Amino acid sequence: MSGAFTKSTARNIFYGGSVFFFLLLVVLTFDTMKSLPKRDHRENITPQVVLGKKLWEDHNCIGCHTLMGEGAYFAPELANVYDRFGQSTEAIVAFIQSRPAEGVPGRRSMPQFNMSTEELEAVAAFLKWTSEIDDANWPPNIQG
Ligand code: HEC
Repeated sequence: MSGAFTKSTARNIFYGGSVFFFLLLVVLTFDTMKSLPKRDHRENITPQVVLGKKLWEDHNCIGCHTLMGEGAYFAPELANVYDRFGQSTEAIVAFIQSRPAEGVPGRRSMPQFNMSTEELEAVAAFLKWTSEIDDANWPPNIQG
């Protein structure tokens, strides 16, 4: 058997394997691109959600938090905070609003951003929209 493995067999395995896996990559890429519009429910991106995303960036929330696993590991994951807070945007608004300006004594904590009601509601709407992305159930639990 070992004598049958010639140079040309090796070359055929190399070319055949390369073509096969390249085609597989193309098919999977198209499949992903086709399913994305359904998964990120982009039809629900309202101007309020857009404003929330902008505030999320302006205040560098990702500098402390993760969103769907991406970001800093200092503070809780927020892609599921809407579910963690009982599917209530009011609870998210109340939490962000209630952070003490002087911080929580004895530890580093969430800053007070002094956002307007409109801004707070926009951030909460952004976090609600994020929680409803079909992200293959990531993170797998509801804890932060
Ligand atoms: C300097 C770090 C820091 C930044 C920046 C930050 N946070 Fe936080 N955040 C925290 C910490 C720490 C907690 C955990 C509770 C606490 O200590 O106050 C928290 C908790 C939260 C919670 C509650 C999570 C839970 O499960 O209890 C929400 C919602 C939240 N942050 C939203 C935001 C948003 C929105 C922004 C940006 C506007 C932001 N955070 C920016 C540090 C930060």
